[in-house]
Amino acid sequence: MSDKRILLIIGGGIAAYKSLELIRELSRRGIASRCIVTKGGQEFVTPLSVSALSGEKVFTELFDLDDEADMGHIQLSRSADLVVVCPATADLMAKAAGGLAGDLASTTLLATDKPVLMVPAMNVRMWEHAATQRNVETLRADGVEVMDPDEGAMACGEFGPGRLPEPMAIANRIEAKLSGGAVLYGLDSKPLAGRHVLVTAGPTREPLDPVRFLSNHSSGKQGYAIAGALAKAGARVTLVSGPVSVPVPQNVDLVPIETAREMLDACENALPADVFISVAAVADWRPSRAAAKKMKLKEGEGDPHPTLELSENPDILATLSRKKKRRPDLVIGFAAETHDVEDLAIAKLKRKRCDWIVANDVSGDVMGGAMNQVSLVTRQGIEDRWPRMTKEDVAVRLVARIVEEFDDESDQIAAQ
Ligand code: CTP
Repeated sequence: MSDKRILLIIGGGIAAYKSLELIRELSRRGIASRCIVTKGGQEFVTPLSVSALSGEKVFTELFDLDDEADMGHIQLSRSADLVVVCPATADLMAKAAGGLAGDLASTTLLATDKPVLMVPAMNVRMWEHAATQRNVETLRADGVEVMDPDEGAMACGEFGPGRLPEPMAIANRIEAKLSGGAVLYGLDSKPLAGRHVLVTAGPTREPLDPVRFLSNHSSGKQGYAIAGALAKAGARVTLVSGPVSVPVPQNVDLVPIETAREMLDACENALPADVFISVAAVADWRPSRAAAKKMKLKEGEGDPHPTLELSENPDILATLSRKKKRRPDLVIGFAAETHDVEDLAIAKLKRKRCDWIVANDVSGDVMGGAMNQVSLVTRQGIEDRWPRMTKEDVAVRLVARIVEEFDDESDQIAAQ
């Protein structure tokens, strides 16, 4: 972990002193901490002691000309691999959930493009208050990971959930998060080295004329996260993707396409593969004819009531799954449904002849959002219902499950 660094925001609470222990534990693990101490935080720990332990300058003010000349607050928010708020007070969480930016800590949280981990610590009644719970829910829906506080006797004399988890547990969580969960599931030992995995992601665009197309809301986030986790596990990854705005993960070969037919061609060209994961939201239909010139609305120049004739697109998942030759050993589909999620997923698995289907409920904020809630369906039926988690965590768990499948397979071969 020697090249990793976090930005640690120390909020105002009696547990702030434990953040000093956390900095020491992280540095023992080779993780550097750059710190912001809030006004409240400075009542409990001094910037001098934080700076002595972290070995770095400590930031406290939003409008400090020296700091801005040294490192602007926007850059500060992006200078680390992970932002950790510890202790996360009720006030800091409320500000972050509401998108306020009145001081250095809240501005940093609003401006960051890095994953955020919050470690709450507060009085039990403050933690259980409906407003705090609402804010925690909002933050989690925004993709922030909020650790659950420990239960026990508190400094204020009350008892219940609200205690800061032990620094060792926080450091473990940070280490797992810095590796994108890869360490947690042993993916850093490259268990998929030598395997080729083909992934589709994003929407397809089906042209209507040179400037218009039919498409959908797929952001590509889930497919890109899966491609990234596969690469971390050592696989050679080919990612065939429609137009999206998420960055391409490291060590992934991107094949950009626009239409479903281009996606199918790109997938066929990428075979053979050991695994095929069909995450793309492929348009089922395309306009039968794409006009060569821009369609006109102006009177006399075009049809005032044009009707759209559609043709069915190829089903990429079903095509690769039904292949006689060069069928990938493991074919995994996704089923995005708004109702009867698992039943429809089981039917889809049979219809498309794939080995697994990851079923997700897209009736809420899944499309484009940071979170996902999925069930894993195999030919034997529903194997597991995973809790609501970030798309990165879904990716890591799915890859860990693929690794397990190949491990089982090699155990069986060895036993024969
Ligand atoms: N899929 C595909 N090619 C298509 C349509 C879908 O490869 N032309 C894949 C998706 O990538 C996904 C799975 O099939 O892995 C299910 O996609 P979904 O859109 O949920 O299913 P549809 O076949 O479109 O069925 P329906 O719209 O009736 O639910």
